[in-house]
Amino acid sequence: MNATDYQSFAETWENRATIRTRPRRLVEDDQRLIYPLSRQPLVLAQTFERECPQLRDFALVQSLYKFINDVVIFETEIVDRTARRIAKNRFAIRFPFACRYDAMTVVVDEDYHALVAMDFMQQTIALSGIEPISLPAEIELSRAIPAALALAPEHLRDALELICVGIAENTLTDDVAAFARDDTVKPSVKGLMADHLLDEGRHSAFWARLTRIYWQSASQDDRQCLAAILPVFLDQYLTNDIQKAFDFELIAQLPVAPHVHQALREEVMDMAYPIHSQHPLLSNILRFFRSSSMLDSPCVQHALAHYLPQARSAL
Ligand SMILES: [Fe+2]
Ligand SMILES: [Fe+2]
Repeated sequence: MNATDYQSFAETWENRATIRTRPRRLVEDDQRLIYPLSRQPLVLAQTFERECPQLRDFALVQSLYKFINDVVIFETEIVDRTARRIAKNRFAIRFPFACRYDAMTVVVDEDYHALVAMDFMQQTIALSGIEPISLPAEIELSRAIPAALALAPEHLRDALELICVGIAENTLTDDVAAFARDDTVKPSVKGLMADHLLDEGRHSAFWARLTRIYWQSASQDDRQCLAAILPVFLDQYLTNDIQKAFDFELIAQLPVAPHVHQALREEVMDMAYPIHSQHPLLSNILRFFRSSSMLDSPCVQHALAHYLPQARSAL
């Protein structure tokens, strides 16, 4: 595919975008969970279940706040920024009007997702009476993208940013899907996640297509240079440092004895995702490298060999 073959999804957006089709979601005042247990393993830890099971809802509400805070940062500071520059033709890579129009729908969707997330935060505070503990000012991408860009020559920075956002927009999908399948969770929360997922399906294809258009036109030297930076980006993107710091902060806020704090911290340490080929996001990342055609390039296969042993056998 090249830029002239690009087909806009504007009509699908008109018919299906959640900002066009969905009513406001209201948090139910019922006994169901506000956040899936599977997404906050701390509350499933033996120490937690033994010492402070009554604090489960507090921990889950705080975990929802962290998730919402992450969504707002991701949408408004990461995706919005890149999509807006593409839409306004302020991007080093030139795209036809149809791409730029679709990029503007992504801006609208993402800002709307941030708004819906903030609405949900407000409703949950009002319903639970629980104020958020101090939430992180950054997400992993807030560090990973600048770290990668710092290694790129000036003329490749926007291309690299496109690839990084493309990867990120292809990983959110499964992350959000985990919510939508869990029947112990409030329907409004599941609905919120399902809405978001519907829009993200469109986005993941959008970023893969733009990346494909760019990659097909990139020179061999530029491809090699970009591929060599990918491991630096993935290392910082797939770290669990921020989540761990949040979990420690959450533990510190629990009204339990000091030895319980210590035992909980130790359990959280053991739960951390190791960065290897089993990381839950890696299969999505591999799919993006395939759909963007980047994985056809030996330099990309080589750069990813450490993360994606399947990248080789997949070809
Ligand atoms: Fe989004
Ligand atoms: Fe998105």
